Amino acid sequence: MSNAKLLVPILIGSTALLVGARMVSWETNHPPVGACIGECYQAYVADQKVREAAEAALLAQASPADLGKRLYTGCAACHGAGGEGGVGPRLQGQTQAAIVEMLTAYKNKETRGAQSMLMWGQAAALSTADMTNLGAYIESL
Ligand code: HEC
Repeated sequence: MSNAKLLVPILIGSTALLVGARMVSWETNHPPVGACIGECYQAYVADQKVREAAEAALLAQASPADLGKRLYTGCAACHGAGGEGGVGPRLQGQTQAAIVEMLTAYKNKETRGAQSMLMWGQAAALSTADMTNLGAYIESL
């Protein structure tokens, strides 16, 4: 048998060995995730409650503009991270009242510009409070 013919089974064999070793170490080198029951699970739930309470406390302190900033992440792709415009018009420089008025019009499926359809879906999910918060944030840009 030539060296080249020997090489193929050697390569296949060593690959199989490496993959096997990796699987064995994967099986044994991490804590048993699936076995979080009893005390482990209770601790997990307690932690979760602490995290939720901390988040609720943060949100309660947040200003309308802070809350609007969280929502604005969904607008930035079209209107620019700083409201400078892009696919959608520039929002920088608009007042809170104007933003609320325009978003309300889109929510009511009103046609404002040629591409209003793009905004109908965006505004549909916004509550009045969301619009006020977005307006506060955009006015601050
Ligand atoms: C898919 C892209 C896209 C996304 C995402 C998007 N917009 Fe728009 N937006 C547009 C386009 C396009 C227009 C112009 C619509 C028209 O012709 O009436 C527009 C128009 C507007 C206007 C009116 C601006 C003006 O001067 O007339 C406001 C206000 C606005 N968007 C706010 C938002 C807010 C707030 C969000 C996030 C909740 C958002 N948009 C998400 C594309 C988008």
